[in-house]
Amino acid sequence: MLTQQELKQQAADAALEFVDAVAAPDVVIGVGTGSTADLFIDGLARFKGRVRATVASSERSAARLAGHGLAVLDLNDVESMPIYVDGADEIDANLHMIKGGGGALTREKIVASVAERFICIADESKLVQRMGAFPLPIEVIPMAREAVARRMAALGGRPRLREGFVTDNGNVILDVAGLSIADARALETDINGMAGVVTCGLFALAGADVALLATQSGIRRLDKPA
Ligand code: A5P
Repeated sequence: MLTQQELKQQAADAALEFVDAVAAPDVVIGVGTGSTADLFIDGLARFKGRVRATVASSERSAARLAGHGLAVLDLNDVESMPIYVDGADEIDANLHMIKGGGGALTREKIVASVAERFICIADESKLVQRMGAFPLPIEVIPMAREAVARRMAALGGRPRLREGFVTDNGNVILDVAGLSIADARALETDINGMAGVVTCGLFALAGADVALLATQSGIRRLDKPA
């Protein structure tokens, strides 16, 4: 029986095969944030010299990449990336995701938007029929915290401020429990339209292109439905 850590490692290793396929001296790899992304970063170290650089979705991942001697570029200096590799807190069969358990959702969404393909790496426990059991993180400008919390409560959610946490962008996170997410794209649009919201952790308007889900019997690959 593989442990959850071993399953995460398996997913990270599977994503490294995608890196192997695109590696070239001018290629930049987009890198996510979280415990699964950390394992991917550690494996990426062996591609030093085979790819040009990386772009990180958090200060934490940037530091880990730099610790391995991998170049980390500012996204403003990068025009394209073939792949962005990151974990998820929940993912469904449409490859819509909830992300942001680590609080890096906004930079994750920005870096992913520049990449041609989003490769999601996770253990199979993250695959759900309907998202919402994991509280939805929302990055909010601090002065809008209560206003956004009231609007989320009106939508049936139970918002809670993530205590003692400030994002890399200087904002706060509301974790909203109790949402029954029937239409993730519509909900993402609604929440992102609220004044004071930087972005919510729904990645549905632009979800993953490929999910590499580690199971006890190997990697289960899901592709975005046509
Ligand atoms: C970070 O903000 C998140 O979006 C992570 O990608 C997500 O929480 C998955 O993290 P783990 O790989 O640690 O489960």
